Amino acid sequence: MNRKNADVVAEPSPSRDHVRIFDTTLRDGEQAPGFSMSLSQKLHMAHALAELGVDVIEAGFPRVSDDDFAAVHRIAREVHGSVICGLARAQAGDIDTCARALEPAAAWRIHVFLATSPLHREHKLNMSRDQVIDTGTAAVRRARSLCEDVEFSAEDALRTEPEFLIEVLSAMIQAGATTVNVPDTVGYTTPAEIHALFTRLKREVRGIDKVILSAHCHDDLGLGVANSLAAVAAGARQVECAIAGIGERAGNAALEEVVMALRTREDHFKVRTRIRTPLLLPTARLLADVTGATIPRNKAIVGDNAFAHESGIHQHGVLRHRETYEIMRPEDAGVKRSQIVLGKHSGRHALRDRLQSLGYEVDEAQMDDLFARFKTLADKKKEVFDSDLDALVLGQDPATLGPWRLVQMHVTSHLHGRVSAAVRLGHDDGRIVGKTETSLGDGPVHAMLRVIERATGVDLNIVDFQIRSLSYGADAQGRALLRVNHAGREFVGRGVSIDIVEAAAMAALEVVNRIERTRQGQALSLVANHV
Ligand code: KIV
Ligand code: ZN
Repeated sequence: MNRKNADVVAEPSPSRDHVRIFDTTLRDGEQAPGFSMSLSQKLHMAHALAELGVDVIEAGFPRVSDDDFAAVHRIAREVHGSVICGLARAQAGDIDTCARALEPAAAWRIHVFLATSPLHREHKLNMSRDQVIDTGTAAVRRARSLCEDVEFSAEDALRTEPEFLIEVLSAMIQAGATTVNVPDTVGYTTPAEIHALFTRLKREVRGIDKVILSAHCHDDLGLGVANSLAAVAAGARQVECAIAGIGERAGNAALEEVVMALRTREDHFKVRTRIRTPLLLPTARLLADVTGATIPRNKAIVGDNAFAHESGIHQHGVLRHRETYEIMRPEDAGVKRSQIVLGKHSGRHALRDRLQSLGYEVDEAQMDDLFARFKTLADKKKEVFDSDLDALVLGQDPATLGPWRLVQMHVTSHLHGRVSAAVRLGHDDGRIVGKTETSLGDGPVHAMLRVIERATGVDLNIVDFQIRSLSYGADAQGRALLRVNHAGREFVGRGVSIDIVEAAAMAALEVVNRIERTRQGQALSLVANHV
């Protein structure tokens, strides 16, 4: 019997304003196509989720496979700080297996589910209402004999007759459930509807005030987060969600959106979570790394564009006073800063601000000239990078800005991870430098970065490196983004090519060139000569 939980989470008399975050990235999320994870990846994610401060980690469904059992068992043994939960059907075998998988955890929960809607009763379970109640009661009692923390989920609750749902939940509380979860399994409900249902459940389910009422909303109509928030407004004190909203079909409510909505609109919801919000972006990035899925640019909170401003009017506003166009501080979600993306919509304020951050002080006359040339360039290019601005200031063609240029590159990968990378680089002073590097296990991109470091003599202390496809298909262009820390300053380089190693090489050379020009103090002194 698990007696260790008492002082962790899910206490029977919950503090009224604490909304528990139940993360199901590793269960509902992982079962979705494209998001499966190996045991070590799940373990890595589970540590990150505990660090993020989620109250409950649903680590898997132990009865479903030996791999799931092993992952839940390992997470239960090694991950501390959150309650570790396993899913079980309302069957003795599932419940006992779940308990065995969870046993090593300091605090654990058995999550029993049984469908309650007429469609599921008739076509899936072939059970009458009474049989559903009896089966659920026996399952919850069995789980309670093994564990003090038991959650019951009424699968497809939002398509269940409300009076029957009330009966089921009352019976499960009486049988010992400490959390009752009301899933919108097929993402069918609306905010007004779920609010009305939860209000009624709070009023009519017997014993509801002694347990935690929970929402689990799928996103089939894009309403997963809105429905979860409506449930909270009506009294739910646990939200089941997943990082980046992954899960069955269209997914679950996105954890980062629920958490930031509750935080940003605390004035409205009057509740809190225990999430360490600056870890939201790193956790979403870890999930993307582990699963190979990319986070859409426009994804709320953790997408690249979530704090990026393109429109000139917005840029002007944000530069004057951040809150004109930002409702959250980027740092609170783990994003370093709001990003002003320079392009054809940008105005003089945004250009001047970026020039200043690059170390260029320009007077009004210089600014008129630079702004005119910037607009011409921005009409031709989607995004104007820092290196393009260097070129503008220095009166050069952005494509030829040096001092280093890529003359030749060659990469060969061999079986078992051996890679050779070779480059020939040209320097403005007339030198041609060639270097070759052979390494084991690092991959071609890494080998290319190392050989560029050796050829130029500039150390690339990498803070962040991303490669992403700009379109679909085998011939899609790859875009590399490299952030490097050098002598206490951050330098960013970008490269776009159909060949990702070449894109990485271009990004690395942009960084090297920026570092070298800064070193020589060339940029600043040339401003005076050229502008
Ligand atoms: O969507 C659902 O109903 C579920 C249950 C197992 C909670 O994932
Ligand atoms: Zn689900």
